[in-house]
Amino acid sequence: MSSTISSNLSTIPQNPTPLSLGTLCKSLAISGLILFLFYTFLFNPPNYRPSDLLSTINQKWPTSSPIISTNSTKTNISHIVFGIVGTMDTWSNKKAYIEAWWRPNVTRGYLFLDRPPTEEFQPWPSTSPPFRVNEDITKLKVFPKIPRPSHVRIVRTIMETFRQGDKDVRWYVMGDDDTVLMVDNLVEVLAKYDHTKSYYIGSNSDCVKSNLDFSFNMAFGGAGYALSYPLAEALATKLDDCIERYPDMYVSDFLLHSCLADIGVALTQNKGFHQIDLHNDISGLLSAHPQTPFLSLHHIDTIDPIFPSMDRFESINHLMKAAKTDQSRLLQQTICYHRQNTWSLSISWGYSTYIYENIIPRSILWRPLETFRPWVADWTPPLYMFNTRWPSDNPCEVPHLFFFDSIEHIEGDQIVTTYVRALPRGLPTCSFAGNHSADPITKIKVFSPASTRLEGGGRDCCDIEYMDGANVTEVKYRACMKYEVIA
Ligand SMILES: *[C@@H]1O[C@H](CO)[C@@H](O)[C@H](O)[C@H]1NC(C)=O
Ligand SMILES: *[C@@H]1O[C@H](CO)[C@@H](O)[C@H](O)[C@H]1NC(C)=O
Ligand SMILES: *[C@@H]1O[C@H](CO)[C@@H](O)[C@H](O)[C@H]1NC(C)=O
Ligand SMILES: *[C@@H]1O[C@H](CO)[C@@H](O)[C@H](O)[C@H]1NC(C)=O
Ligand SMILES: *[C@@H]1O[C@H](CO)[C@@H](O)[C@H](O)[C@H]1NC(C)=O
Repeated sequence: MSSTISSNLSTIPQNPTPLSLGTLCKSLAISGLILFLFYTFLFNPPNYRPSDLLSTINQKWPTSSPIISTNSTKTNISHIVFGIVGTMDTWSNKKAYIEAWWRPNVTRGYLFLDRPPTEEFQPWPSTSPPFRVNEDITKLKVFPKIPRPSHVRIVRTIMETFRQGDKDVRWYVMGDDDTVLMVDNLVEVLAKYDHTKSYYIGSNSDCVKSNLDFSFNMAFGGAGYALSYPLAEALATKLDDCIERYPDMYVSDFLLHSCLADIGVALTQNKGFHQIDLHNDISGLLSAHPQTPFLSLHHIDTIDPIFPSMDRFESINHLMKAAKTDQSRLLQQTICYHRQNTWSLSISWGYSTYIYENIIPRSILWRPLETFRPWVADWTPPLYMFNTRWPSDNPCEVPHLFFFDSIEHIEGDQIVTTYVRALPRGLPTCSFAGNHSADPITKIKVFSPASTRLEGGGRDCCDIEYMDGANVTEVKYRACMKYEVIA
C-alpha cells in the first residue's frame, strides 16, 4: 500500500550529482574487476585446494551483524507488537495473506482500518488480528494542507499502535495488509539489537529507481520494518508536529523517514525484508535469497503466484508449510556439486531446487536469474539493487527447475523436503561439460536437521547422492567443515 506509489514521484526533487555518478561508475568498474578475478580464481583449478588466502577470507566472512546485547532476557515473540495497515475495501482480498502468518493468541498487534468493518465481516474472527479504526485526521489543524490523507493515516498508524499501551513491548513491527511476515525469523533478527536504543530497521526497494525517487536510506513500508520501543515512543510524541512541518510530503514512507531523520535516526538496512517492487515471475529472486534470514514478502497481488501450479493464496499457504517447520532455513540457498556428473545443485530451502549440467561457481549462482521485471518497465539499467543473470537458452546455463512439494519429519530427527520437476527442460544435454543429462530426475529429496536451526547469516553444506539414470536425487545437509571450500 504505502509502496504502490513509485510511479508518480516526479514531485520529489532529484539531483544525482556528477560526483555520485562518478563514484558509482568507479565502484562498478572495481567490482567488475574483482568479480572477474574471483571467477577466474575459483573456476580454473579443478582439483582446488584451499590456499591460506581463501581460508583467511572465509574466516572473516560471517561476522557482519551489529550484535549488541543487553543483560536483559532474550527477546521473544511476546515482545513484539505488530501494526498492520489495511483498508475495508481490500480486506476481503488480503485477509488470507495476513492469516497465513498471524498466530492467534500468540502474536500481539492490530489491523488498522480506515472505517469500521461492514456487516459481512462481523463477528470479527479470532483468526485475524483484532481491528482498530484509525483516528479521524480531518480534525487536525493541518488537514486542509494535506494532499493525500490516506498516507497520513498510514504513518499515524505507528503512533496509534503505540497508544494502545501494550506492556513489555520491545519492538513495533509495521506492515501492510499484503505483507507476509516471517515471525520466527523476525524474533531472531530483532533479538540481536539493543531494544533500549533507537532503531529503525527495514529495507529499501529492490529497484534502483524506487530508491532514487525516494531515498536509498528509507524503509519501504510494504516490506515491513521495525521500530524499537524508545523510538516508537519518541515518534508518538513528535509525529503530529512533523506532519505539520511537512504537510505536502505525501508519501507515508518518505514522511516517516523524514520525521525519523529529524529525530536523528537513520535506517539500519536488513536484506531479509522484501518490498518486491517487481512484476511477473519472482522465482529467480526467491531461488537466490541473500545469506540472511528471510523476513517478509510483499506485493503478492502484483506478481505471479510464486508456485507455478497454484494460485496466489495457495502459493503463500504452501510456502508457510515449510515456514512453520524451519523458518531459519526458509529460502536459504545451499549449493553443492556432483563432481561425477559435473552438475551443480542450488537449493532454496522450502521453495525450489535448480540442477545445472555444469559446474558453476557459487558467486555466480548467488545472482538471481532475472525471471522478473522492474516496477517501472521503461527504465534504464541498472534496474536492481543486486546483480542478476539473464536467462539464456544455453543448455550449460539453463537449470532444470524443481519446486517445493511436500515436507515431513522423519526418524533420526530429520526434515525431508521434496521438490518436483515443474516442466521438462526441453533442451539437449550440456555436452561441453560432463555430458550427463539430468532429464530423468523427477524429484529431489533434501534432508536437513530438525533440531538445529541455521544461525542467522550462516550456511549449510550438502552432499548429493545420485545413481545414474535414477529419477530421484537425495541431498543431505550437514554443517560445513572448518574452512570448507565448495567449488
Ligand atoms: C543489568 O545491568 C545493570 C547495569 O549494568 C545492573 O544494574 C543490573 O543489575 C543488571 N541486571 C541483571 C538482571 O543482571
Ligand atoms: C518472553 O520473555 C519474557 C521475559 O522477558 C517471559 O516472561 C515470557 O514468558 C516469554 N514469552 C514467550 C512466549 O516465550
Ligand atoms: C484465543 O483465546 C481465546 C480466549 O482464551 C479463545 O476464546 C480463542 O478461541 C482463541 N483463539 C484461537 C484461534 O485459538
Ligand atoms: C553425449 O552423450 C550422448 C549420449 O550419451 C552421445 O550420443 C554424444 O555423442 C555425447 N556427446 C559428446 C560431445 O560426448
Ligand atoms: C521412478 O522410479 C521408480 C523405481 O525405479 C518407479 O517405480 C517410478 O514409477 C518412477 N517414477 C517416475 C515418475 O518415473
